[in-house]
Amino acid sequence: MGALDGKVAIITGAGQGVGRCHAELFAAEGAAVVVNDFADSCHEVAAAINDAGGRAIAEQCSVTDWDAVGAMVKRTIQEFGDLDIVVNNAGFVRDAMVFSMTEEQYDTVVDVHLKGHVTTAHHAGAYWRHVAKSLGDGESPKQRRVINTTSESGLFGGPAQANYGSAKGGIITLTRILAKELGKYGVTSNCIAPRARTKMNEMIPMFAPHEGDGFDPYDPAHVSPMLAWLASDHASDVNGQTFIVTGDEIHRMAEPTVAASVTAGDQRWTVDAIDAQRSALFGADSPSLPPWGGPPMR
Ligand SMILES: NC(=O)c1ccc[n+]([C@@H]2O[C@H](COP(=O)([O-])OP(=O)(O)OC[C@H]3O[C@@H](n4cnc5c(N)ncnc54)[C@H](O)[C@@H]3O)[C@@H](O)[C@H]2O)c1
Repeated sequence: MGALDGKVAIITGAGQGVGRCHAELFAAEGAAVVVNDFADSCHEVAAAINDAGGRAIAEQCSVTDWDAVGAMVKRTIQEFGDLDIVVNNAGFVRDAMVFSMTEEQYDTVVDVHLKGHVTTAHHAGAYWRHVAKSLGDGESPKQRRVINTTSESGLFGGPAQANYGSAKGGIITLTRILAKELGKYGVTSNCIAPRARTKMNEMIPMFAPHEGDGFDPYDPAHVSPMLAWLASDHASDVNGQTFIVTGDEIHRMAEPTVAASVTAGDQRWTVDAIDAQRSALFGADSPSLPPWGGPPMR
C-alpha cells in the first residue's frame, strides 16, 4: 500500500530535475500524476511512469498561462476524477546583479515562480471551494494539499537574484496566505526549499557529479520523500510551514516574529528618541546584515 494511494497530483516543472523525482515517487506511492512542463520532456516522464506500472498523463503548458493552467486542472479532473495535490515546482533562473538586470530577466523569472504558483492555486482553489461548498451538513471536506517550492535565496537573499530571490520570498508569504484562505476547504499549504544537483545549478562546483559509492548528498531524488509525506494523510495538521530539504537533512524554518519592541508612549517618535532606544531595539543582536541562515554546505 502506498502513502498516496487513490490521490491525484499535479506536479509542475516535472519534465526533469527535482520535479521529475517528485512525479516518479508520487506515482510509486500510488498517486495518479499529471506531469506538467512547458518542455517536451513531460511526455517522456509520463510514459516512463506508465511503463513502470504507475498512472500518469503529460500536460505540456506554461504555468504562467492562466487559461492553460485552468484547462490543465479541468483535464486532471476529467481524466482522474478529482484533484487532491498541487506541487508547484516549475521555474528557471536568469541571474544578474540588480544594476545589470534587464526588464526581461526580471519579468520572466518573477512570472514563472510567483505567478506560476498563483495560477495553479487559483484554479485548484476554485475547484476545491466549489466541492467543499457542495457538501451536505455534517460532511467534512476531503484533505487537499498545496506544496510550494521556494529557495534559500528566497529565505536569505541570494546576490544576483533580485528577480529569483524576491519571487521565492514571495512564495513563502503566498504559502501562508493560501493556508489561511483555503484551510476551511480542507487544504493545507506548505513550502520546501530544495538543495540538489539539477540542470539549474550543475555548473556550480559544489554540485559537481558525485564520485564513489557513498551517499550522494545532492541527488535530487532525496528531496521527494518529504513532499510525499506532506502530501500524505500523515501530514494533515502540518500547515503554513517552510522546510529546507537536502540529502539526508530536513530543516524546519522558524516563522518570522517580533524580535524586540520599543514605544514612544502615545507620542510621535523623533530621530533622537529612536537613537536613544537603539540598545533596547537591538539588545545583544547585531544591527548589521544578518548572516546566511541556511544549513552548512557539504
Ligand atoms: N536544484 C536546487 O538546488 C534548487 C534550489 C532551490 C530551489 N530550487 C527550485 O526547485 C524547482 C525545481 O528546480 P530544478 O533544480 O529541478 O530545476 P530544473 O531546471 O532541472 O527543472 C525545472 C523544470 O521546470 C520547467 N519549467 C520552467 N519554466 C516552466 C514553465 N513556465 N511552465 C512549466 N514548466 C516550466 C523546466 O522545463 C524544467 O523541466 C525550481 O522552482 C527551483 O527554483 C531548486
